[in-house]
Amino acid sequence: MRKQVRAAVFPVAGRGTRFLPATKASPKEMLPIVDKPLIQYAVEEAIAAGATKLVFVTGASKRAIEDHFDTDAELERALTESGKTDLLESVRDIVPNNVSCVYIRQGQPLGLGHAVLCARPAVGDEPFFVHLADDLIAGEPCLKELADEYERHGSSVVAVEEVPHENTSSYGIVAVEESKNGRRMTEIVEKPKPADAPSNLAVVGRYLLAPEIWGKLEGTGRGAGGEIQLTDAIADLLDVADVYAHSFSGTRYDCGSKLGYLQATVAYGLSHSEIGDEFRTFLKRSVG
Ligand code: UTP
Repeated sequence: MRKQVRAAVFPVAGRGTRFLPATKASPKEMLPIVDKPLIQYAVEEAIAAGATKLVFVTGASKRAIEDHFDTDAELERALTESGKTDLLESVRDIVPNNVSCVYIRQGQPLGLGHAVLCARPAVGDEPFFVHLADDLIAGEPCLKELADEYERHGSSVVAVEEVPHENTSSYGIVAVEESKNGRRMTEIVEKPKPADAPSNLAVVGRYLLAPEIWGKLEGTGRGAGGEIQLTDAIADLLDVADVYAHSFSGTRYDCGSKLGYLQATVAYGLSHSEIGDEFRTFLKRSVG
């Protein structure tokens, strides 16, 4: 029996420059897709995968995230008094009672690897999830798929998908070989130019990492873009442990980019129980 994956780390301390000015005073993870912020979709996915400790690594202007997962007694009273029970339920049950939230400050946005390392005191010597909320994945909860694969072989697992070859310089790119346990990673490199990329298999924002990653993160210096990269620590981990690449079944939207964000809004809008039909009519009329 494997160790249950209990902790999920949400690095939310990036600058979100691609979404300025919207992200000047509010984190990009609070951008809503229809009626829920990205970070709430993230939390729901982690809880569906069995996480009971949610570790948010926050930076400047991240108060809104803490407030979102806190109880708002005044709002709940107002909704109760006005009989708006559906809305009351929607703000009350975001985080179940058996799940705890921990907030850790990343003093400076030194990179994703550094942000993950900041979570170490809260996670401890256990396997843990890392979830990047701006990669929104519709369909089967991707972290649950990673947990199921981990249950089989007990090693780290990273979610991957094929991207157009010309886009490799926007991603961590992996090379893999088939093994009896699945697709074993043989190489991982951060943002390679298409000519240098070992494949077009890109890492997306879902990871299940074994605790051996901590020591590797400790030793990771600045890499691509001058940032401390999680990819580089995973490359070091490959020297001592197996890491697997998992092609997830859902559909990913890159909500850190304007186009991906709009695509997600349309997809989620169309399948929304309350406004989906009217939205479809509106879109048909708009595009002719
Ligand atoms: P991104 O590469 O998307 O960077 O970070 P960013 O700063 O958020 O956005 P842009 O590129 O400037 O528009 C990937 C993830 O890592 C987190 C981000 O919050 C995002 O979830 N991150 C990045 C940190 O938490 N700390 C960092 O120092 C860097």
